[in-house]
Amino acid sequence: MISRPGPMKYEILPNLTLPKIGFGTWKIGGESSPDPNVEAISLAALRSALELGYTHLDTAEMYAAGHAEELIGQIVRQLRLKRESLFITSKVMPSHLKYDQILNSCDASLRRLQMDYLDLYLIHWPAPGMRLEDSFRALNKLVRDGQVRHLGVSNFDVKLLKRAQAFSETPIITDQVPYSLSDRSYVKNGVLEYCQQNDILLTAYSPVDQGHFRVSKTLRAIAQAHSAAPYQVAIAWLVNQPRVVTIPMSLNPVHIRENRDAADLRLSEAEMKQLAGAPRGL
Ligand SMILES: NC(=O)c1ccc[n+]([C@@H]2O[C@H](COP(=O)([O-])OP(=O)(O)OC[C@H]3O[C@@H](n4cnc5c(N)ncnc54)[C@H](OP(=O)(O)O)[C@@H]3O)[C@@H](O)[C@H]2O)c1
Repeated sequence: MISRPGPMKYEILPNLTLPKIGFGTWKIGGESSPDPNVEAISLAALRSALELGYTHLDTAEMYAAGHAEELIGQIVRQLRLKRESLFITSKVMPSHLKYDQILNSCDASLRRLQMDYLDLYLIHWPAPGMRLEDSFRALNKLVRDGQVRHLGVSNFDVKLLKRAQAFSETPIITDQVPYSLSDRSYVKNGVLEYCQQNDILLTAYSPVDQGHFRVSKTLRAIAQAHSAAPYQVAIAWLVNQPRVVTIPMSLNPVHIRENRDAADLRLSEAEMKQLAGAPRGL
């Protein structure tokens, strides 16, 4: 039986509504190839996430060489979840950005997931010398043919993001980039501001620095004041910002729940500023 707690906070765009917090799947099922040693724990983590009410799952053809997608498909079928209750993001890798390669990659992702459409399909990284116009001819076709609902990009700077917008027949709904209290590179390069001004979601990946997040004194004090875990406050700091959503990954059901609940933490303007200004590790 799936318990569905109250709705998570959402980010509302003109053409879709997305939960502020989704579930990342890098290292689910393995890293660069399938790893039998993490099979059981990965399936258990996916099951926990779905039972705890996560509906946005972020994956990629690259994750465990496609095995992360297979495990998502497997658990969704086991739990008998309705496809339309989920929002599935996948990504095409930089070495597959030619027209035919993109069509083949998307087909392969859908086969592994055993689903007939993706909610969101991203270019995982820009590739040197890529012909973005050619890539978007394929991506636009996938949307027109119904295999993909929405398009986005990942690790794109403002200049590339604008080029993607120019070639896409449908709105680019996200740029997925690293963003955490300790990594502000996509604030500095203007991507966050550009997204906020143009109805594009900034999807923050590695929101807790892949588990190596250093807890500052400021963060610890604010966490105590909210009776929350410091990692929750680090995630809440992200999702308290307009147009920012995030996709933390965890294999630990306690952390999976904590990360979900971070969406309910309301930080004051003063706390947001204090956290933004706190030097790393102090
Ligand atoms: N587009 C891209 O290029 C790109 C790049 C990297 C990642 N991503 C996506 O973004 C997702 C998230 O990023 P990430 O996996 O790199 O890093 P992350 O979510 O910042 O960190 C994951 C690590 O943090 C630990 N963790 C998570 N929540 C925790 C909590 N509440 N308390 C303590 N530890 C916690 C987890 O360990 P435990 O298992 O012990 O909880 C795990 O080892 C990925 O899974 C992937 O879907 C995209």
